[in-house]
Amino acid sequence: MPTLTTGLQRLDIGQFRNIETARLVFSPGLNLITGPNAAGKTSLLEAVYCLGRVRSFRTAHPDQLIRHGQSAFRVVGHVGLADGRVIPVGIQRRPGAYDIHLEGRPLRRLSDLAGRFPVHLMTGDTANILNGGPRYRRQSLDWALFHVEHTYRDAWQRYARALRQRNAALRDHAPVALVTVWDSELVDAATLLDCLRRDYLEDLSGHVARELAALLPGKTFLIRYQPGWAKGLTLAEALEKSLERDRVRGYTQAGPHRADFAMLLDDRPAQADYSRGQQKTLLVGFLLGQAKLQHALEGPRGVFLLDDLASELDTEHQGRVLSGLAELETQVFVTAIDSRALDLATWPAHKRFHVEHGDIREVV
Ligand SMILES: Nc1ncnc2c1ncn2[C@@H]1O[C@H](COP(=O)(O)OP(=O)(O)OP(=O)(O)O)[C@@H](O)[C@H]1O
Ligand SMILES: [Mg+2]
Repeated sequence: MPTLTTGLQRLDIGQFRNIETARLVFSPGLNLITGPNAAGKTSLLEAVYCLGRVRSFRTAHPDQLIRHGQSAFRVVGHVGLADGRVIPVGIQRRPGAYDIHLEGRPLRRLSDLAGRFPVHLMTGDTANILNGGPRYRRQSLDWALFHVEHTYRDAWQRYARALRQRNAALRDHAPVALVTVWDSELVDAATLLDCLRRDYLEDLSGHVARELAALLPGKTFLIRYQPGWAKGLTLAEALEKSLERDRVRGYTQAGPHRADFAMLLDDRPAQADYSRGQQKTLLVGFLLGQAKLQHALEGPRGVFLLDDLASELDTEHQGRVLSGLAELETQVFVTAIDSRALDLATWPAHKRFHVEHGDIREVV
């Protein structure tokens, strides 16, 4: 593997969750973080994630990230860019406000940070995409697209606002005109969401199918997208058709807020028809396909955070995810309770860290 200059080279943490202080120098390849339950493994990944995305993957309330009894947290990273430069990125949270510094200068808009240091997260929860309800699949779509398509976020916010207003009118038994007045805005934003989701899922389907060609030879894989309204109708037609039922029920039944997708192996739904073992393999293919698509969309600077994959995947399947990621020649952080469970053979460049009670040390 060539020596990587991209990714997170160093990280200083202060007062983040249960981590009082940490000064870490990472491998450009694999970084394995071990330690018992509640040691602070996920918190370390959360600090890295926060540096890239300026939010947590565990809470919508950033003040919860500040170590109990403290007034602020600080995370400072040295990030290697594709052009060979290394830039310092710093993020500090006081109750109610973020301060972000890029190359020593304060950033006014969070969007200025976007794309400098993309982080991608994989967790054991990903199994919900296969076995959970539609909201998990919509969430995974939204997360993926928020990061790569700015127009998606705008359209999503416009759609959510129009839907809220339309539903409020339905709930209040308002006259029909006060309900349908939202339809053109709804349809407009929905068309963009639908189009971006459709394109993304088509790409994803191809990427996952390529991964599975090796993992489940002989089986065809396809993602079938369901936009959230009846086949053969435009959304405008579907809204018109369900207007009376919407008024009885008090909410809008058709639209991208009801979208879903199904994963089909040999044309049969993976959830219903396949064994646990095959589903795990499918999950590996899905995670790798998604990773490779994200890598293709956001460039080679991104890092991957793998938290607690052991909760859904056994050693063999985790090993497949790791060796698949090794092909991307990107930086990876992976947590595990038992360090012996993972085979690091595919990663010539790696480092191990051990965490206990928020104290992180490199294992040499
Ligand atoms: N703001 C905070 N201040 C101090 N401690 C916190 C804060 N938020 C969470 N903690 C504690 O930090 C500890 C570490 O949690 P973390 O989820 O990082 O552990 P972990 O090593 O990932 O454990 P597991 O193996 O169970 O997933 C937990 O005991 C948690 O209660
Ligand atoms: Mg954890």
